[in-house]
Amino acid sequence: MSENPLVLVTGGSGFLAIWVIVQLFNQGYRVRTTVRKLTRVNDIKKCLCEANITEEQISSLEVVQADLLKDAGWAEAVKDVTYDLHLASPFPAELPKHEDDLINPARDGTIRVLRAARNSGCVTRVVMTSSFAAVGYGHPEERFKPDASPFIEKDWTNISSGNVPPYQKSKTLAELAAWEFMETECMDSKLELAVINPVSIYGPALGKDDGTSLRAIGELLEGNSPGVPKLCWGIVDVRDCADMHLRAMTNPRAKDERFLCIGEGSLWMEEISNILKKSLGSKAKKVPTTVLPNFLVRGLAVFLPVARLILTDLGHNKRVSNTKAKEILGWQWKYTSEQAVVASATSITKFGAVKV
Ligand SMILES: NC(=O)c1ccc[n+]([C@@H]2O[C@H](COP(=O)([O-])OP(=O)(O)OC[C@H]3O[C@@H](n4cnc5c(N)ncnc54)[C@H](OP(=O)(O)O)[C@@H]3O)[C@@H](O)[C@H]2O)c1
Ligand SMILES: *[C@@H]1O[C@H](CO)[C@@H](O)[C@H](O)[C@H]1NC(C)=O
Ligand SMILES: *[C@@H]1O[C@H](CO)[C@@H](O)[C@H](O)[C@H]1NC(C)=O
Repeated sequence: MSENPLVLVTGGSGFLAIWVIVQLFNQGYRVRTTVRKLTRVNDIKKCLCEANITEEQISSLEVVQADLLKDAGWAEAVKDVTYDLHLASPFPAELPKHEDDLINPARDGTIRVLRAARNSGCVTRVVMTSSFAAVGYGHPEERFKPDASPFIEKDWTNISSGNVPPYQKSKTLAELAAWEFMETECMDSKLELAVINPVSIYGPALGKDDGTSLRAIGELLEGNSPGVPKLCWGIVDVRDCADMHLRAMTNPRAKDERFLCIGEGSLWMEEISNILKKSLGSKAKKVPTTVLPNFLVRGLAVFLPVARLILTDLGHNKRVSNTKAKEILGWQWKYTSEQAVVASATSITKFGAVKV
């Protein structure tokens, strides 16, 4: 009997990537991952242990050092690989000095990963983690009214609209570059591409590196803001998001498709605060519940660069459809938004990533 397929996960130290690796091991795949710093390998192994992956599987994890900004390592990373899950991409909590600090690794890194996969001759499919950031930005205000139709996979972020923030731009340009590479440079190759576009990912962290998406929960628990801005996000649990990646990896119908990845729905930040208050008791005593009027947030942003990141989202209702993933991939979310939020909060307090 031949060995189980080898799967490459780029950026294994990430919040989502760890859970993808956990599910791959649980389904019996062999796993290789890339890191840009080998010092992260011990953290990854600790997280896998926390998720009850066996000693034997943990020690079987293959690691290759590769940076999205450099060619070195990528050819070695895809050797003998059948499926290549491309998750690595810069996702900082702060504004970058220059937007190219995000765009270059996201876009050029994606092309490095795809080119290595194509040249390998063995990789049959790449699943790229794009984002709702490549779908729902730069649209006219009407798209964010409560009665607007939900965002679907045909929607693309309009980077020419002039007010798309750097991270959203980097994800859009990276996904556009990926589809263009497939069309122009993979005609005679067996390589296939499928793309996942998650909304905000919550759910449990498996270690103290909580990642940027859980920072929003950490900031609330630490009481770092006098109130909550009128912001609304789609939510998916990291375990459901990882599950969609594994389905897109093997389902023949996922070829050439992008899939929005959202669970039960969207929440306003005020609702997230109230969930935390209700479920975490004294650990949520600093969580603000006063809603900040938009004019106040706009005023704050003049002095607080990081507040500028949210201005384009202020007051926007975000409805996002998961119909396509349900129909084509047979995917179904298992964790409610509330469960995902509470699991995030519980895990980041457990691992000491926030001071409450
Ligand atoms: N979390 C969300 O809410 C969300 C929503 C939609 C889409 N996504 C996408 O999902 C993917 C995973 O995100 P995450 O939440 O798990 O973020 P994360 O925890 O910050 O992980 C990002 C990963 O990318 C790696 N990386 C960054 N710059 C790199 C570079 N120049 N070379 C090599 N690796 C690099 C990081 O490695 P280091 O450990 O070395 O920094 C880390 O492993 C990303 O593509 C992100 O855009 C996330
Ligand atoms: C690991 O096992 C413990 C003890 O059985 C259990 O409580 C925990 O939920 C498991 N974790 C995961 C991620 O499956
Ligand atoms: C993108 O935005 C620009 C500037 O607002 C607009 O002219 C253009 O029509 C938009 N493109 C699409 C595809 O909506």
